[in-house]
Amino acid sequence: MTNKIKIYFSSLLIIMSLIGFAQKAKPIKTKIPKRPKAATELVGFAAPKMETVRIGIIGLGMRGIGAVERFTHIPSAEVVALCDVHADRVERSQKVLSQRGKNPAKTFSGSREAWKELCLLDDVDLVYIVTDWQTHADMSVFAMENGKHVAVEVPGAMTLKDIWRIINTAEKTQKHCMMLENCVYDFFELTVLNMVQKGLLGEVLHAEGAYIHNLEDFWNYYENDWRMEFNYHHRGDLYPTHGMGPACQALNIHRGDKMNILVSMDTKAVNIPEYLIKNRKISADSAYKFKNGQHSMTMIRTEKGKTIHIQHDVASPRPYSRMYQISGTKGFANKYPYQGLAFEATQIGDDIAPDLEDLNSHSFVPKNVMDAMMKKYKHPIHKELETKAKEVGGHGGMDFIMDYRLIYCLRNGLPLDMDVYDLAEWSCLTELSRISIENGSAPVEVPDFTRGAWNKLKEYKHYFVE
Ligand SMILES: NC(=O)c1ccc[n+]([C@@H]2O[C@H](COP(=O)([O-])OP(=O)(O)OC[C@H]3O[C@@H](n4cnc5c(N)ncnc54)[C@H](O)[C@@H]3O)[C@@H](O)[C@H]2O)c1
Repeated sequence: MTNKIKIYFSSLLIIMSLIGFAQKAKPIKTKIPKRPKAATELVGFAAPKMETVRIGIIGLGMRGIGAVERFTHIPSAEVVALCDVHADRVERSQKVLSQRGKNPAKTFSGSREAWKELCLLDDVDLVYIVTDWQTHADMSVFAMENGKHVAVEVPGAMTLKDIWRIINTAEKTQKHCMMLENCVYDFFELTVLNMVQKGLLGEVLHAEGAYIHNLEDFWNYYENDWRMEFNYHHRGDLYPTHGMGPACQALNIHRGDKMNILVSMDTKAVNIPEYLIKNRKISADSAYKFKNGQHSMTMIRTEKGKTIHIQHDVASPRPYSRMYQISGTKGFANKYPYQGLAFEATQIGDDIAPDLEDLNSHSFVPKNVMDAMMKKYKHPIHKELETKAKEVGGHGGMDFIMDYRLIYCLRNGLPLDMDVYDLAEWSCLTELSRISIENGSAPVEVPDFTRGAWNKLKEYKHYFVE
């Protein structure tokens, strides 16, 4: 080979490897389907008012029966239809209605397809889905196609394909599809959101959230073992919405900002494989094929230069935690393991702490200041509902507030607190984190699920009757 040819080939090699490097550094993109012709974007969408909201509930297992009871405490909400594969679960819920002095609901059971009959009823306005993860998308799409609004448990869908199906159907049918993310109504989170919206934390730059909950005591109670099955076969953050919801609301996601890119990493799985060997007598060979990493972490960067850190761990012997940290240029809020607030002294009014020099952001504010701040910034939703919510219960009251707000907004023709794009953004981590992890923690682009409307509204807000 002459020197000239050698130089030619080595330059070619360098160029090719540079191109290869550039390609590797580029984020992995997933397909964004074109908006179907008959579809219209739904940011800020409100449906016509309705006097009464007639509800059909599908899925009456551990979680569903609580919803039946909660609706009996909400004015102008009527549970008119109940469905579960198991007749005895339907009967149990029917009993709840009668004990609370309500009319009996129509009942559907006995097959895995009976829910379709519920969705076809003319006298149902809202289909409320509390089944396992794999059934959420099919049920939501079918219900909307048959003229119903939908409320669906978390996560709303487990794949991007299903998320896009839900968005396209909601946009085509102009129906709500709200995910039942309750943690955004928790007392600390909603009070902090109010502080954020009043500028107390300055510009919020970083938010954290998680689902850290050792599920060892629960694994045997899910219908057909659906939760263990899904964890067995999938890596990534399978339950991201409790962490994502409060973080995304504080960061105004798709109301002036959007998530651009994420990176995920996980540990190997240890405790669940050991649990399977010990408690289910599964061979070590199959147990260690369990895919979901014991601890997974996802980092997200937004268009406006903010970050979110989300974690998932359902196996380690740790206290329950949703992390929940909001970090701004002038303040900080932390929920777990104990609640704390820290501010630049100027952020705390004289009415609360006249001796400002004693306070600085090197530590949390003292309890008396914390209590006074929590009281002063109590969210209007909590001012109205806290007493009733604590009486009715459901995760300390946040479930009741979630259902109450859903019915209130539907009845008054207001945009719901969470729209179909929230469902998409908070659920999409399940598949996107898997893609990142399976590609050596490569960056993955987070699709703009609004397909261009993320900047139409400038901040997140709850709507009220004027
Ligand atoms: N937001 C929260 O705090 C919270 C808490 C617990 C559970 N969840 C969510 O609630 C959902 C249900 O969880 P769970 O713990 O009640 O599970 P579960 O297994 O106890 O209940 C699911 C129920 O759905 C029924 N079902 C399944 N397929 C059906 C079909 N085709 N037709 C009719 N009924 C069907 C089952 O028979 C079962 O009764 C999940 O999505 C879970 O993630 C949310």
